[in-house]
Amino acid sequence: MNILLTGGTGYIGSHTAVALAEAGHHVVLFDNFCNSQPDVAQRLHTLTGQALPLVEGDVRNTALLTHTLQAHQISAVIHFAGLKAVGESVAQPLDYYANNVQGSISLLQAMQAAQVNTLVFSSSATVYGEPHYLPLDETHPTAATNPYGRSKLHIEEILRDACAADPALRVLCLRYFNPVGAHASGLIGDNPRGVPNNLMPYLSRVAAGELPHVNVFGADYPTIDGTGVRDYIHVADLASGHLAALAHLAQRPGFDVINLGTGQGYSVLQMIDAFAAASGRPVPHRIVPRRAGDIAACYARPDKAARLLGWQATRTLQDMCRDTWHWQIRGAGHEQLEQLGSVPNLPPGNPQHSPHIP
Ligand code: NAD
Ligand code: WQD
Repeated sequence: MNILLTGGTGYIGSHTAVALAEAGHHVVLFDNFCNSQPDVAQRLHTLTGQALPLVEGDVRNTALLTHTLQAHQISAVIHFAGLKAVGESVAQPLDYYANNVQGSISLLQAMQAAQVNTLVFSSSATVYGEPHYLPLDETHPTAATNPYGRSKLHIEEILRDACAADPALRVLCLRYFNPVGAHASGLIGDNPRGVPNNLMPYLSRVAAGELPHVNVFGADYPTIDGTGVRDYIHVADLASGHLAALAHLAQRPGFDVINLGTGQGYSVLQMIDAFAAASGRPVPHRIVPRRAGDIAACYARPDKAARLLGWQATRTLQDMCRDTWHWQIRGAGHEQLEQLGSVPNLPPGNPQHSPHIP
């Protein structure tokens, strides 16, 4: 199948590109590089042995998207492109609605024009807001608490309406829990700019000596050790979930939402211990006050994914920490950590980089 990945050079998109290419699909990447680097395409070439076509563009450019869908005879789209920083969304809500909501409408319009009917959308567990009960199943009420989360909810609603209006449309919203880890090769992974907001990349930089210690945001939550509990899921498991989602959509038109999580929660202190063990390096921490907007615990009931997609996460917390560390020393922290040795030796790739299709 010919599949377009918007946001395809980003963290989750790039791992999904590898999984799709390995499964024999033809992958086309579409990205404006607002939060990724074009050299990801070279790394994907190295990993897949294929020069994946890469179109540089903004998803709000409906004409470019329509042309791309037609030119590459696309039959399904996975829509990763979006802004995702919660704090930034509070400061710049219009940017988030313009990029995420308007971008999704533009994509739907392009799909309609090009007669592409199958869409997998990157949603988030953040749409559940403060949990009323745990584990979170898909019938849990939705209530986003910030503009980023609200943009995801708005998009889900728009997609539901679009499906109601067009019986040919097939849309699956995947609500990811906390994606972490990296490709086992260490060639691709999460590469946040500046000081990371998320726990796992922060742990990784502390272990590497780039940051002095982890601030643990609150140790007075009603959890196993007082620190926040989350459902961390390996990005490679998430990637295979997208393959299962596409196979499911081939059988089932209409609209649905499905959690992608492991069903297992880990606390911040458990994560620190696991990361120190995986990296063999100290990960010092300090308890500081709670972070505004944080919840005590959040983890998935992953049964619907198992039932409908035949998918479940298989990788362990140790796998997540090991692969994050491997990426830290081989990929993300390449320049900073040359003294540790073992940096990647990338052969030159030859991605088809088409910056301006009219
Ligand atoms: P990412 O920032 O690494 O990837 C997103 C990609 O989209 C980037 O390459 C960026 O350059 C591109 N992009 C953004 N706006 C664009 C636009 N207007 N036009 C074209 N390209 C654009 O993020 P990620 O972690 O890979 O997340 C992918 C998707 O999954 C996002 O929609 C995000 O909201 C969602 N999600 C992520 C997480 C997480 O913790 N990583 C959790 C739940 C949901
Ligand atoms: C995890 C735990 C923190 C950093 C966010 C978004 C969510 C989703 C994933 C996209 C919490 C604690 C963290 C640190 C800490 N993204 N922590 N010290 O907040 O669950 O989810 O990313 O959809 O929308 O909100 O992830 O990794 O930031 O935090 O103690 O330096 O680690 O308090 O308990 P979160 P996180």
